[in-house]
Amino acid sequence: MSLNSKKLFREKFGYEPSEMYFSPGRVNLIGEYTDIAGGHVLPMAIQLGIEASVSLRKDRTVRVFSFKDTVSFSLDNLEKNTKHSWINYIIGEFYELEKRGVKVEKGFDIALDSSLPVGSGLSSSACLEVLIGTIINQHSLKKVEKLEIVKASKENENEFMGLSSGIMDQFACEMGEEGKCIFLDTKTIEYKLSPFIIQGHDLVIMNSNRPRKLTDSKYNDRVREMKEGLEDLKLYLNFNCACDISLEDLEKYKDKINNPLSYKRLKHLISDNLRVIKASELLSQGRVDEFCKVLNEGHQSVSKDFEVAGFELDTLCEEALKGGAKGARMTGAGFGGCCIFVSEKSKTKEIMLHVVDAYRQKTGYNCQCYIASPNDGAKKIS
Ligand code: GLA
Repeated sequence: MSLNSKKLFREKFGYEPSEMYFSPGRVNLIGEYTDIAGGHVLPMAIQLGIEASVSLRKDRTVRVFSFKDTVSFSLDNLEKNTKHSWINYIIGEFYELEKRGVKVEKGFDIALDSSLPVGSGLSSSACLEVLIGTIINQHSLKKVEKLEIVKASKENENEFMGLSSGIMDQFACEMGEEGKCIFLDTKTIEYKLSPFIIQGHDLVIMNSNRPRKLTDSKYNDRVREMKEGLEDLKLYLNFNCACDISLEDLEKYKDKINNPLSYKRLKHLISDNLRVIKASELLSQGRVDEFCKVLNEGHQSVSKDFEVAGFELDTLCEEALKGGAKGARMTGAGFGGCCIFVSEKSKTKEIMLHVVDAYRQKTGYNCQCYIASPNDGAKKIS
């Protein structure tokens, strides 16, 4: 899908934009929710994303066109908009960066065009946050490193928007690099751009198109369930975060955890962290079959123990495997959203057709498939 924010800019604002930016969405290859547990994640930026055409204004107004609406706010009043919730991701970014001394004297006109399905688990919100962060940083007297934009954007999501998410999405959308996935330790924020070698294979995104209701509250529930389990274990073990705990110790102190759900959540988080380390190693060596096996184990864990997949995402993965994919798992926060599969190139098309058909029969939803490969993070494009 080709984007044309420039045309939208001309139509809405009646003059030419002076700059353009693009920010990608992301898929997470493996390591689901491990970023709330100080574990590792393995995401990558993708081709789908949001394009912005931008011009600096002479006053302190920011006007943004997106989703058929033009919404304005003043740099002197960075408060939440109660009518158009999407603009709050943008207001929040100005607010969080200003706290770090990254600010602009004059406002902007911005037209957005997106190829990212909204609320589909491909990080449309983080994509928008870092896109705006990148624009502000470009025009601020004080400039910061990309990593600071990531941190401000996460704070935006956590504090301004009220979702207790980890750092993975903002990190992937800002720091991605073509051809590489990101092996990130969310405890130390050390990372490496890791080779993505799936020669002769495709990575395919399957969008379940299941509306994601109440995702935020369910996300925060998982965080709470993890924390409750950690409170119980604190009496017996030393750790800073869930992923410091070994699977052996978790089993040993299993009966000290009051809520059985907390045990299951921790089991997923700790085991998925180990899977990320293994998967990234296998992927960087091009050992696709073994990598896919780890993906499949990851899906079982996130579905059975973390319980965020649900019927639709389970069905997509099952059908992809039935159709001939080597590995399949949900990606992102779950409760709807997207899955990924890996298949031999010669089989990709046939598997896609099978999945679309079987999924429609079983769920009544239409699924879209996109072939993905690792892309660059947010940047100015002209
Ligand atoms: C959402 C959050 C991320 C991460 C994923 C699950 O996308 O924003 O921080 O927790 O869910 O892996």
